[in-house]
Amino acid sequence: MDSVSRVLITGGGGMLAWDVARAVREALPGATLAVLARPQLDIAQPDSVRSAFQEVRPQIVFNCAAYTNVDGAETQRLAAEQANAEGVGLLAEACRASAARLIHFSTDQVFNGLSSVPYTEEDAAAPCNFYAQTKLAGEAFALSGPDNLVLRVQWLYGERKDRFTPLRTKEVFNAFEDQFGSPTWTREIAAILLPLLKRGANGLFHFAYDDYASWAQVFAFAKESWNLPVKLVPTATAAAKLPAARPRFSVLSNRKLCQALGFSGMGSWKRPLGEFLKQAQSRT
Ligand SMILES: NC(=O)c1ccc[n+]([C@@H]2O[C@H](COP(=O)([O-])OP(=O)(O)OC[C@H]3O[C@@H](n4cnc5c(N)ncnc54)[C@H](OP(=O)(O)O)[C@@H]3O)[C@@H](O)[C@H]2O)c1
Repeated sequence: MDSVSRVLITGGGGMLAWDVARAVREALPGATLAVLARPQLDIAQPDSVRSAFQEVRPQIVFNCAAYTNVDGAETQRLAAEQANAEGVGLLAEACRASAARLIHFSTDQVFNGLSSVPYTEEDAAAPCNFYAQTKLAGEAFALSGPDNLVLRVQWLYGERKDRFTPLRTKEVFNAFEDQFGSPTWTREIAAILLPLLKRGANGLFHFAYDDYASWAQVFAFAKESWNLPVKLVPTATAAAKLPAARPRFSVLSNRKLCQALGFSGMGSWKRPLGEFLKQAQSRT
């Protein structure tokens, strides 16, 4: 890892990319880092991928590019497939041809959420919507390279996409009471990537905290932390009539990740969210 001198981050305009870029700059200060947003690198276009690889000659590629509109994917199927599946195939092939490692991100929604115990990396996937189908296909492309790594993540928040600010402006806020998972700060995902690679990890991993909650409980935590007057209304997912299905029990086991990192656990989701909310408040 210390000999890595050229790194490429795709999807450079997105939420996770922003924190991954910061973590790479900190961990590999001597490396040349190319953070390319879609106008500079469209991962679904073979010519675009070819010229980016020729120019950057990356040794590690963090693929943060994705079509992430879960409901939109139900109708914009081609766009979702191109970014989340075919594009990952192009990146995996370009990485194979240039002996680079591909680090890719997937989703908890590859599971249907019918379990009552946390999903492990060995559990059979059963995508609950079209977005998740495309993400599962992308995983297979990424995992075709033996040195590549796929991290399934969920319920992301970060400086680039703050899910919690609407609580400040709305009088009433509906929050799902029947979806369970762990809200995850993109900064914390970024922080474990290079340590994980340094330890020689490859294959499939889940990122999650040691506990979980419903969205209603997560927003209640934010409301309390910020001491806001907003009225929270716990709602059923079915009532929202969303185009795409959501998993009910979307809880991932972090055991494999913790073992790979030498951690005894990841702690509670409340720790990073509390810190994030404190920082966000001090910026306002
Ligand atoms: N956000 C979540 O809660 C969540 C949950 C589970 C998993 N994930 C996964 O985590 C990863 C990062 O997600 P994120 O929340 O950071 O997403 P994000 O903020 O939506 O960023 C994704 C970026 O990818 C870009 N993009 C889309 N199609 C592209 C293409 N063909 N070529 C190049 N760039 C393209 C988008 O650009 P445009 O804006 O121009 O389209 C956007 O800047 C993704 O793999 C996602 O599936 C996210």
